[in-house]
Amino acid sequence: MIEDPPAPTTGETSGDGGHGPGAGVTRRSFIQTAGLSAAAGALQQGTRAASDPPGDAVDDVPIIGPDPVAVTLRVNGKPITTTVEPATTLLDALRIHIGLTGPKEICDRGACGGCSVLADGLLVASCMMLAVDAQDVEITTIEGLADGDRLDPIQEAFIRHDALQCGYCTPGMIIAARALLNTNHKPTLDEIKAGLSGNLCRCAAYPNIFNAVLEASGQAPIADAGGPAS
Ligand code: FES
Ligand code: FES
Repeated sequence: MIEDPPAPTTGETSGDGGHGPGAGVTRRSFIQTAGLSAAAGALQQGTRAASDPPGDAVDDVPIIGPDPVAVTLRVNGKPITTTVEPATTLLDALRIHIGLTGPKEICDRGACGGCSVLADGLLVASCMMLAVDAQDVEITTIEGLADGDRLDPIQEAFIRHDALQCGYCTPGMIIAARALLNTNHKPTLDEIKAGLSGNLCRCAAYPNIFNAVLEASGQAPIADAGGPAS
């Protein structure tokens, strides 16, 4: 909420001629107030824009950008340093800069799960995370899930249950299933559906996907596993 500042002595007044709820708010003071809010937001995120005015509150926060910056990501057990624009998403850093195309860009807005990766073992939509913010976590993509030639049990179960058609959602589905089994070793069918509810399969391979996760967690498949959680 913007508090009314002191009455202006210079500058443009708001369009209502100085009366009504906006009385006393100049366009300049409004922009200054909004700028402070933005600076506070940047401070909470641990970054600030180069154009922010200097001030005690943000002086010790590192400036990132506007030029490309070097980032070191720890991906599938290896540190990789690359240079990205500050606004580059983790997904683009992985796919374009590092060449790992397992995470898929489908919706680019956190709605489909195609870009799923693990960050310290937890599920993350990499299209919704900046690469500069991913430097302190261990990133695992589908390329890093197998242990050498030994596939993750979820990958093996997907093959056995033919849990894919076009395969485009599959890397994200398997990563989401791994994140689920990392925290819940024997999920019920409903828990599997909830755990995978952020991942969409346009081919509707859901029953086989759910059964693959059941089997990977040491449970018997269910004849009619049904569709996704509504
Ligand atoms: S591409 Fe990231 S959630 Fe859809
Ligand atoms: S297998 Fe085609 S989108 Fe899931």
